[in-house]
Formats: sequence, C-alpha cells, structure tokens
Amino acid sequence: MSGDSQKQDLSKVLEEAEKLIKDTKNLSDLDKIRVQFLGKKSLIMGLMKTLSSVEIEKRAAQGEQLNNIKEKINFLLSSKKSELNKNSNKDKDQFDVTMPGKASAIGSLHPITKTMNYAIQIFESLKFECVEGPEIEDEFHNFTALNIPDYHPARAMHDTFYLENSFLLRTHTSSVQVRVMDEKEPPIRIIAPGKVYRKDSDITHTPMFHQIEGLYIDKKVSFSNLKGIISVFLKIFFEKDDLKIRFRPSYFPFTEPSAEVDIEYLDSKGNKQWLEILGCGMVHPNVLEMANINPDDYSGYAFGLGVERLAMLKLGITDLRLFYENDLRFLKQFQRK
Ligand code: PHE
Repeated sequence: MSGDSQKQDLSKVLEEAEKLIKDTKNLSDLDKIRVQFLGKKSLIMGLMKTLSSVEIEKRAAQGEQLNNIKEKINFLLSSKKSELNKNSNKDKDQFDVTMPGKASAIGSLHPITKTMNYAIQIFESLKFECVEGPEIEDEFHNFTALNIPDYHPARAMHDTFYLENSFLLRTHTSSVQVRVMDEKEPPIRIIAPGKVYRKDSDITHTPMFHQIEGLYIDKKVSFSNLKGIISVFLKIFFEKDDLKIRFRPSYFPFTEPSAEVDIEYLDSKGNKQWLEILGCGMVHPNVLEMANINPDDYSGYAFGLGVERLAMLKLGITDLRLFYENDLRFLKQFQRK
C-alpha cells in the first residue's frame, strides 16, 4: 500500500471511529468499538504488523501515521468512557421528586411512663415535690437506715439483686426517703418515682418494676392525713368518686402502724376482686432518729405505690409481663390513652 492511499484509508477509519464513539450509549458498546479499531484483528494493528516489510524510506512516515491514529482513537475512547461513567453516577444521585415519601411511624410514650406521669401530676397538684434517687444503692440506704438491721428477716423477704462491694439494685424507692431526710429539714413533702428490682417473675411480678414513694414529715402529721391523701389520690387517678378502698393492717419495719391498701375492681368475668396497690404507714421513730429528726417534735407518713398495678387496673390488663415484651400490637393500643 502506498503512503498516500494508507493515509486516505486511515482518515476514513478515524472518521468512522469518531462517529461510532460519539453515538455510543454504554460502556460495553464502547469496548466493542475499541476491539474493532484497535484489537488484534483490526486494520490498524494489521498494518502495524506489516510495517517491517515496508520499504525502509517509507517505513518511518507510515509508522508515524499509524501511531497518530492509534493515539487519537485511544483519546476518544477514554474521554467517552469518563463521560459515560459520570452520567451513570449522575443517575444514582437523581431521585424522583414525585415519589411518595417514606412515612415514619410516630412513636409514643410507654403506658407505664404515661401512668407514672399522670400520677406525678396529681401528686404535684397536691403539693408534693418530685425528687429522684439512685437505682444502685448501698445496704445502708436500702435497709439499715430503714430500721432493717443485718439479721432482720425482711432483708431476705426482698429477693435482692446484689452487686459487688455490698452494693445492690434498690428493692424499693423507700431508699430515697433516707436520702431526702439526710438533705432536707422538715417540713418534707416529696414523692420519688422510679425503677426498683426484685428477683421475681410471674403474671403479677416482673424483676424490674416501678414505684412512687411518698413522704410527708411535719409537726402533728397523723394517720388520718395519710388515709386522706391516699383516698384523694386514688379517686382522682381512677376518676371515680365512689371507688372502694380497703386499708389492711400490715407490717413494714420502717413504719408503725403499717397498712396495705387494696382497691376493688371487676375481673374479666365481672366478679368483684381486691388488688393490693400500695404499702404505707407512719414513719417509724427509729427511722426519724437515724436521720436526726426528733420524733418528739415531728411525725410523718410514707407510702410506696406500685405503678404497674395502677396501670393494670386503669387499662384493664391481666398479665403484667405484657408491659415489657415490647410487642407493638400491645403497645399501640395505648397510644391515645
Ligand atoms: N417499700 C415498701 C415496699 O416496697 C412500701 C412502703 C413504702 C411501705 C413506704 C410503707 C411505707 O413494699
């Protein structure tokens, strides 16, 4: 082939390659074009191979022509490749603005939290100040300062979760009574809501549950004050003026006299039943003395309400464990209540 005719052929090849590359829409077609023009069986590569048999005077010029066209096609291929890559990334970034959005479900407070908040609100309206204490306690605050000495059987009654170095998970919110009496001078009028822990699990017990502790210490506080506040609270809470309440004599080492309070409710068969919802009593003189409060000048009452019990009655739930299984079918029923 003469130098000129090769030049003409090659410019046609370049023209054709240019057109094909320009019209390509995807990377795999682009690769086919590369094979067609620069692959082993292509015209250009064929001519390259025969270069050694070309007359010596023409060889250099023909070689240069071939290299030029090869370079040009390579350049076209690589710019098209980056253009196609850029476009495919652009597609990924694009989104359909007309598509409906993903609806995010609106969460709601847990029924126990709601029950607790509602009870706190009522006590605050009755002029109790809301305070908190630690869930990890020491034996002194959970037992000793509440008139439960080392050997006392009440320690065993509590099914305590013990931690290292005689720390424990508080078994009741009564430990907060001790902390408040250490910090404040009477008159004291507080509630202390929170989590408590006992090794216990059946339909009316879970190892973690909630209590609201109440403590009122002042001059001349009497048992009738205690009865009054408990019945006012329960009637507001259950929105029932004729709610039947029963005070039953009981025993707690830190109160004397002590009582447990039951309320009447109708079970699923419509039968009347009593459910215990709180323990209470007049603060024991030993407890006041240990907190440096003179029992001759001051007296007080204390109570500990079971929040889960209140919630069960208010919401009509028979198995306490349902509260802690996190089953949305259960929880969703109380979204609006
Ligand atoms: N702490 C007692 C309990 O958990 C309840 C209680 C509190 C009783 C305050 C009397 C006074 O069972």
